[in-house]
Amino acid sequence: MVVALLRCSWLLERFCFLCRTGTACCLKCCPAPSNVLVWVAAALRYSGSEKDESSRWKIFFFFAPWKHVVMWELIDEVEVEMPTSLGCPPPCAPLFLMLMTFLLQVKHATNQIVMNCADIDIITASYAPEGDEEVHATGFNYQNEDEKVTLSFPSTLQKGTGTLKIDFVGELNDKMKGFYRSKYTTPTGDTRYAAVTQFEATDARRAFPCWDEPAIKATFDISLVVPKDRVALSNMNVIDRKPYPDDENLVEVKFARTPIMSTYLVAFVVGEYDFVETRSLDGVLVRVYTPVGKAEQGKFALEVAAKTLPFYKDYFNVPYPLPKIDLIAIADFAAGAMENWGLVTYRETALLIDPKNSCSSSRQWVALVVGHELAHQWFGNLVTMEWWTHLWLNEGFASWIEYLCVDHCFPEYDIWTQFVSADYTRAQELDALDNSHPIEVSVGHPSEVDEIFDAISYSKGASVIRMLHDYIGDEDFRKGMNLYLTKFLQKNAATEDLWESLEKASGKPIAAVMNTWTKQMGFPLIYVEAEQVKDDKVLKLVQKKFCASGPYAGEDFPMWMVPISICTSDDPTSAKMQVLMDKPELTLVLKDVKPDQWVKLNLGTVGFYRTQYSPDMLESLIPAIKDLSLPPVDRLGLQNDLFSLARAGIISTVEVLKVMEAFVNEPNYTVWSDLSCNLEILSTLLSHTDFYEEIQVFVKDVFSPIGERLGWDPKPGEGHLDALLRGLVLGKLGKAGHKATLEEARRRFKDHVEGKNILSADLRSPVYVTILKHGDSTTLDTMLKLHKQADMQEEKNRIERVLGAISQPELIQKVLTFALSEEVRPQDTVSVIGGVAGGSKQGRKAAWKFVRDNWEELYNRYQGGFLISRLIKVCVALRMALVLCVQAFFESHPAPSAERTVQQCCENILLNAAWLKRDSEDIHQFFLQRKGPPPATA
Ligand code: BES
Ligand code: ZN
Repeated sequence: MVVALLRCSWLLERFCFLCRTGTACCLKCCPAPSNVLVWVAAALRYSGSEKDESSRWKIFFFFAPWKHVVMWELIDEVEVEMPTSLGCPPPCAPLFLMLMTFLLQVKHATNQIVMNCADIDIITASYAPEGDEEVHATGFNYQNEDEKVTLSFPSTLQKGTGTLKIDFVGELNDKMKGFYRSKYTTPTGDTRYAAVTQFEATDARRAFPCWDEPAIKATFDISLVVPKDRVALSNMNVIDRKPYPDDENLVEVKFARTPIMSTYLVAFVVGEYDFVETRSLDGVLVRVYTPVGKAEQGKFALEVAAKTLPFYKDYFNVPYPLPKIDLIAIADFAAGAMENWGLVTYRETALLIDPKNSCSSSRQWVALVVGHELAHQWFGNLVTMEWWTHLWLNEGFASWIEYLCVDHCFPEYDIWTQFVSADYTRAQELDALDNSHPIEVSVGHPSEVDEIFDAISYSKGASVIRMLHDYIGDEDFRKGMNLYLTKFLQKNAATEDLWESLEKASGKPIAAVMNTWTKQMGFPLIYVEAEQVKDDKVLKLVQKKFCASGPYAGEDFPMWMVPISICTSDDPTSAKMQVLMDKPELTLVLKDVKPDQWVKLNLGTVGFYRTQYSPDMLESLIPAIKDLSLPPVDRLGLQNDLFSLARAGIISTVEVLKVMEAFVNEPNYTVWSDLSCNLEILSTLLSHTDFYEEIQVFVKDVFSPIGERLGWDPKPGEGHLDALLRGLVLGKLGKAGHKATLEEARRRFKDHVEGKNILSADLRSPVYVTILKHGDSTTLDTMLKLHKQADMQEEKNRIERVLGAISQPELIQKVLTFALSEEVRPQDTVSVIGGVAGGSKQGRKAAWKFVRDNWEELYNRYQGGFLISRLIKVCVALRMALVLCVQAFFESHPAPSAERTVQQCCENILLNAAWLKRDSEDIHQFFLQRKGPPPATA
């Protein structure tokens, strides 16, 4: 099936893996990068009969699709010792065999070599000093916990150059990490497998023993020998393609040498794909690879990528260094996308857009993901973090600039407002917990590395960069970025290196300011009150750490250097005053602000803090929400701050509900979306009371006017945001049981199923969720049938996410069973279970039980990776009074990469319980009073 010849030169630039003494000692002494031949072959472990477990195994090399063992063609045969650690019986576990040869410099005499290595069985290893005889390693000591192997040699390897050869067997696994199989269906319905890689963060070591750390960079020359009807891709462009001498069905595809790069960015893919291509304005060949027959669906991403490359080139003032970039949709894929240099891999739903069947939010998501991964080609690939402690540099930065890029390509998306709802508030929610962590966090073991791919690295990272960009100004920020990228080109860098470049470019105290945001967890709450002194307003600001559990009560006094901006009703869109708050308290005089003028902090919701206004200041802002004179992003920020203050018990929830009523005239999608999320949280909380129905009435009242204004069908001239808003509002009304919406959803769904009138892509989610929420077993069966028939993964996912809305216990069980069935791709099981947990009170209970009952299978499926954290988060976050049960479960079922997530979930449960206890009676009273007295009877 796949034989890969990899030539890889390990440039021992920053790190000597023999002496492991640290940086730069080798480059100076090592005259040139050493070229190393790495030979990779896919092979199948095989024995004459499945039961024949002899102690010596035959390894055959096969070159054919993996579908049927009988189709595989034998081309060579070797005998090797039976691999010991791979227990899966043939023929279910395809193995791959590799031979690697490293030419290396021994810096200090030693008889041991330590390398990273996981799920790999070394067959032989030898070291040959230049011009001298080969010495065979006599011991391979696997430190499985540390994912390392120590090769021991019977004699001392002397200082000097030499060749290290290792041949070994690894498993082409089904775990979506390392070198793995991804299952796909051909247009004729056949099931086949592609071979793909996913190495970040620490899984290159599952494909070959190596020094798997971001700061140990090497160049790679890769060749793949594949069946001639297969597409073979790698990081670089093809430089040669010729028939393979021993087999006419094979071709050998050689790729150009890569630049110096980290192991986690190496990639190769072999499978069947179509593509569309173009050349970007800056001359890079861009291709989007799609499943066979779906090339059209690659056009949208192609257009975005072709616009994005020159945008970044211009922004960084550094060209994209490779001649080509491929973006490829992979059927089985754990993350959303991965920035492998020159060969970016995506989930199908993060890359493919069908003009008719894709909804507006998918288009937006594809644009953001393309923008994110292409940004990494500079920020991450060209300049790489020194160690995973600085992961946030990669992910936070890419999560910020993806918005800049989408704003450039699609100004009509108003994407920066959406940033606040999607990233900024999400980060604040997590960072207000005692179990949060600083952006820069020390990590060692791979499970600790997995754990930090979270909202702190991504969303808080992006939010503090947004704040910093605003503080510095675009021109100096770009100058600083260029300084940083050019200084560390092809090298590694740490957080302080970025601060130094930005400081140089701006002349501002960047390191001092930013250290307060990246080295300590949390963020401040700024309390503000105003006093009118003649024509001026005197503001008093006090900062204190914001905690989700209420006023900060710690013994230390964490402090932040906060760029503060202030505007007034005179001009709500520009700052009247900007100041760096570098102490706990600050008094400011705003000149010429009349008594009837309002004052607002945090213009644009850019500063990473929450604001608590004195009651009279807050009251003066309410009319500015109603008459929309406050800009959308500020209306959103104000509402979100109030909601989280209520959850923390600093203000009352009723106060926030009253403010929510002021949003009756709200036209903005993102403001609605954020408000809707908060109402959903409250609604879930109140599902534990006997007045749950009351909040549904409130939701219907709040959303009805906008629902009526929008109607069901797009009006001429409407755009992207109107489509998003309509979907949001109809879904919300439908779920809450708004009669007219429910009836219309049922009517349209019937027409859709009967093929009379196909629902537009943007209306499908709201209609599906509505009919399921109020549906029965027939509804569920119809949805499952639609799922089966769906050709696009986007449609399958759309259905999977809403199935959990069904509320009958036996149907909930059916959905949960479906989540683990063959019908659902392994990476999507989490969202089906999450849908159940978020769908109803019964669903929450059932989902948590289901996860416990099926823990082994789920844990094994994701190998403890980041999907396990997501799974835990979706199903236990909102369960009440469960802390002991959750803690006990994870004590007996440890999930090392999700330890912090479990703590965060427990903390959230306690916070919810306290919130409910504190406010439920008042909320109930508020709902009763809203209804007013019963109508007088005549
Ligand atoms: N580098 C990550 C991919 C990744 C994620 C690898 C987690 C290992 C663990 C990639 O750049 C990324 O961040 N992808 C995001 C999508 C992005 C648009 C936020 C993802 O996969 O969720
Ligand atoms: Zn990323």
